Amino acid sequence: MPLLNSVYRQREAGKPLVTLDDYRAAGGYQALPKVLAEMDPDDLQYEFMRSGLRGRGGAGFPMGKKASFLPKDSQRPKYVVCNADESEPGTFKDREIMEFNPFQLLEGITLAGYAIGAVRGYIYIRGEYEHQARVLDRAVAEARAAGLLGTGLFKSTFDFDITVYRGAGAYICGEETALLESLEGKRGQPRLKPPFPAVAGLYHSPTLINNVETLAALPPIVEKGADWYAGLGTEKSPGTKIFCVSGHVMRPGNYEIVLGETTLRELIFVHAGGLRPGRRVKAVWVGGSSVPPLGEQHLDTPLDYEALAAAGTMLGSGGCIVMDDSGSVVRTTLRLVTFYRHESCGKCSPCREGTSWMEKLLQRIVDGQAGPDDLEMLKALFGRISGRTLCPLAEGAVGPVRTALELFPDDWADALENGVPVPEPMLPVSS
Ligand SMILES: Cc1cc2nc3c(=O)[nH]c(=O)nc-3n(C[C@H](O)[C@H](O)[C@H](O)COP(=O)(O)O)c2cc1C
Repeated sequence: MPLLNSVYRQREAGKPLVTLDDYRAAGGYQALPKVLAEMDPDDLQYEFMRSGLRGRGGAGFPMGKKASFLPKDSQRPKYVVCNADESEPGTFKDREIMEFNPFQLLEGITLAGYAIGAVRGYIYIRGEYEHQARVLDRAVAEARAAGLLGTGLFKSTFDFDITVYRGAGAYICGEETALLESLEGKRGQPRLKPPFPAVAGLYHSPTLINNVETLAALPPIVEKGADWYAGLGTEKSPGTKIFCVSGHVMRPGNYEIVLGETTLRELIFVHAGGLRPGRRVKAVWVGGSSVPPLGEQHLDTPLDYEALAAAGTMLGSGGCIVMDDSGSVVRTTLRLVTFYRHESCGKCSPCREGTSWMEKLLQRIVDGQAGPDDLEMLKALFGRISGRTLCPLAEGAVGPVRTALELFPDDWADALENGVPVPEPMLPVSS
């Protein structure tokens, strides 16, 4: 069994676990038969809860607790949905788990299915991940042929199968209720909550939705025990987390670290190989593009949920975008807002109209055509968008702008005066 999701080490060692034999040789598919023979579903849920595993898709909600919210007495079928939409800019960890270790994900989904009494699991994968979808299709077929999916798994009474469903490349379809709409064949737009998916999710049935990385962590938790997992990391942030480091670093890539043990500085300078010679860190969006940026003064922050919150940001999806002092916070902020304006599904007017206005004002600033009033108007917009929408997409667009204004006042003053010059094209980095 590979240590948690350390697929990257497997890949670097030239041993991706893409076939069932590879995965079994590495210790895979030992957790599932053990559970089916020895544990009832409630015990397994309790084991998940005791591990302290928190959702890795962004919000960090405890996985076992979420599983416990599904009603036990429902007459409707229950489902597990694996969120593999992974469209947050800077985030590319789920892609590698699916590509290099698909069976660990399948085993994790099956374990989650057993814990909640589900009849079927769905993997909702973003449309652009064609190769990974093919890898998953093959893995599901192989698992089915080997009796690891289907009826009476490991001679038990548990029947469970998995369907791989391809999205069409919309960021909003990563939001759990928009994902469910899309999976039901409708336009991907968020639903009003409550009811939460645990009560009325897919086809109005109780549904457990978790991220790829969350579900792929379940087999090692079951095999090595909740105590072992809870013993890694800090009390409130147990376990390991994959950080996807991109931007101005010498070795961009996925790095799995034990939460709370590694600082942002070590992630950037030790794991990701540091910056180009002579450069300093300007800004880091440590949890994906929807989280407030940090500055150079935050580099010694430990990477865990609490420490990052105390520093004014969020761990989010772990998509760590690094910008050195050759970049412009103002131009990057505009680029991110353009993304959110484009991806806003349009259902809520404050998001649809507000992201568009933010983009227009930021464009004026970047073009050197704005006055102080424009900055004030930008700030006034925040309160008209935040907290007034069905889903947190708009909050993801507003938060980073608000913090960028607070942390880098000189850059905004300079931009208001002179605009922001078009950047030099960047040469590819090499280590
Ligand atoms: C706009 C938006 C996009 C999201 N995209 C993703 C995504 O691509 N993958 C993901 O796992 N969660 C995404 N989420 C979070 C999901 O709504 C949900 O919280 C998550 O799938 C729950 O899984 P977890 O508890 O294992 O993190 C997104 C949320 C929002 C608001």
